[in-house]
Amino acid sequence: MSYYQVKNFEEYFKHYNKSIREPRKFWDKIADENFTWYQQWDKVLEFDMQEADFKWFSGAKVNIVKNCIDRHLAKRGNKTAIIFEPNNPDEEAQHITYTQLYERVSKMANVLREQGIKKGDRVCIYLPMIPELAVVVLACARIGAIHSVVFAGFSASAVAARIIDCGCKMVITSDGGYRGNKTIDLKGIVDEALKTCPTVEKVLVAKRTNADIKMQEGRDQWLQPLLDEAVANNVAEIMDAEDPLFILYTSGSTGKPKGMLHTTAGYMVYTAYTFKNIFAYEENDVYWCTADIGWITGHSYILYGPLLNGATTVIFEGIPSYPDFGRFWEVIDKHKVTQFYTAPTAIRSLAKEDWKWVDKHDLTSLKVIGSVGEPINEEAWHWYNDHVGKKKSPIVDTWWQTETGGIMISPLPFVTPTKPTYATLPLPGIQPVLMDELRNEIEGNQVVGSLCIKFPWPGMARTIWGDHQRFKETYFSAYPGKYFTGDGALRDEVGYYRITGRVDDVVIVSGHNLGTAPIEDAINEHPSVAESAIVGFPHDVKGNALYGFIILKEAGAWRNQDNLVKEINEHISSHIGPIAKLDKIQFVSGLPKTRSGKIMRRILRKIAEGDFSNFGDTSTLLNPEIVEEIKNGKV
Ligand code: WTA
Repeated sequence: MSYYQVKNFEEYFKHYNKSIREPRKFWDKIADENFTWYQQWDKVLEFDMQEADFKWFSGAKVNIVKNCIDRHLAKRGNKTAIIFEPNNPDEEAQHITYTQLYERVSKMANVLREQGIKKGDRVCIYLPMIPELAVVVLACARIGAIHSVVFAGFSASAVAARIIDCGCKMVITSDGGYRGNKTIDLKGIVDEALKTCPTVEKVLVAKRTNADIKMQEGRDQWLQPLLDEAVANNVAEIMDAEDPLFILYTSGSTGKPKGMLHTTAGYMVYTAYTFKNIFAYEENDVYWCTADIGWITGHSYILYGPLLNGATTVIFEGIPSYPDFGRFWEVIDKHKVTQFYTAPTAIRSLAKEDWKWVDKHDLTSLKVIGSVGEPINEEAWHWYNDHVGKKKSPIVDTWWQTETGGIMISPLPFVTPTKPTYATLPLPGIQPVLMDELRNEIEGNQVVGSLCIKFPWPGMARTIWGDHQRFKETYFSAYPGKYFTGDGALRDEVGYYRITGRVDDVVIVSGHNLGTAPIEDAINEHPSVAESAIVGFPHDVKGNALYGFIILKEAGAWRNQDNLVKEINEHISSHIGPIAKLDKIQFVSGLPKTRSGKIMRRILRKIAEGDFSNFGDTSTLLNPEIVEEIKNGKV
């Protein structure tokens, strides 16, 4: 590994300027020096922003898993690749070496091939945070099957929608999962989902909880006996640079989730490069990211980024509050974690508890601590800095998205002076810009605008599975010639970026991206509901929570409110998942609408926030009187 690492702040600017003057040369060198290729590329980058068409390293041939595992075997065969820390602290942690990981992934890859999975086939993975999840993901990538990991908190209908959208041939799940003191019946959810998924031929089931589950003859098989029969050697598929690597669904502003497609070589180069630089990873470090592999953070910074660097990465099955609020800190102490990467919502929930939970444990191993997923508020930033980082481990506040594949804006530890709530500066090679309402680029500092990226980078998503038009419209049409992030940001007097939040109909709840449209669709399916509008409002722990304004078909049904509230939330749980439940529900007789029938969410947002001061121009409303009613009924 020889990525150039910037040594000080002055050098960052020099390096950055060079990277954007000659981006092709910049990425060419990184790709050339740090990976094993079967064949080199003809061109570093070809692109057309209008058509949203991007090709990185075309002509190259590579396998990302060979780069994650095989090439480390000679030097790091006995090094721990994965530390598995189980939900229950009394269960022993597992240390999986690179050699063992090679064997497990090879066996799994052979099983997949034997079961008829070929390059280009889609495989849905619905597993808890156990080593098998990593093994299955890597096995898919090794044989060129496209993995679609669905977070194991999604409901049966959400799983089904994702399976149907990309036509998965196989589902890999487990007999259940542990989460704190609960067990989750994953196989039951898959069975329910598969009632509507005709493309799925086979289901492989890993054992975790030993729950008594039903196996469907001819479709379902236990994984372990198949693995026991498989050989521990596997010839990896030779992939083209732009061959699909995975699909990962993210919420959009319509009901249908977007299957973001990432491809092979660019994603590999970008996640490896960003991991090394942002976490200042060194050979004997132990890195821990607390995300779930079901989200992009887990894909890029639990699996691919760390393994590409030959790192030791922790996979944690549990939750921060089980068996007590000291669990994170206990695990850091136990495994001598050097880099710790988590979400503001987790920090806020732990900061509410006594800080003695932290101080009981020895955190001196930590060097760098990170934050991701949503803006980190000032109070949480300071708590993290004081109690966890002890004011010596820099906080990397990393801004990025499922669509960007890897981190885009972040301090470089020991290089960029941090500033609370600021993601600070773009990484070398990344060109953020702020745009005004007239679609002009805003120059200078101390400005606010919509955040766009004006030049391609290797980790970017290439399309939305099956809907390139939607990809173009969502990301490349609002500001022609630029990638639109959907986020607003400000640039301070020295050029540091602070992300202020979404400017579209996506609300980030506990770090999870939730589109309001699919939640409204789910609520509207309840037999008593006529119409609904969901907005976010600030919440101490979750960052944002959801507030629902609901019109019932029958005004009289208000009397049963208690039951209805529960039912509506159950409805959301079963359509999307418990993460999308509403914190507050207000029954209303109408919603503020423009003459063209569009709900004025701006007004609803203000009411939900409890800010009744200035609703702006309401003269275009069809029914201005409704605002007063809603205001008076605020819950
Ligand atoms: C938000 C997660 C502020 C942002 C990696 C973005 C952040 C969305 C930060 C993407 C941060 C992520 N500061 N906001 N450091 N990181 N976000 O696709 O609104 O789950 O657009 O990817 O999270 O969420 P996603």
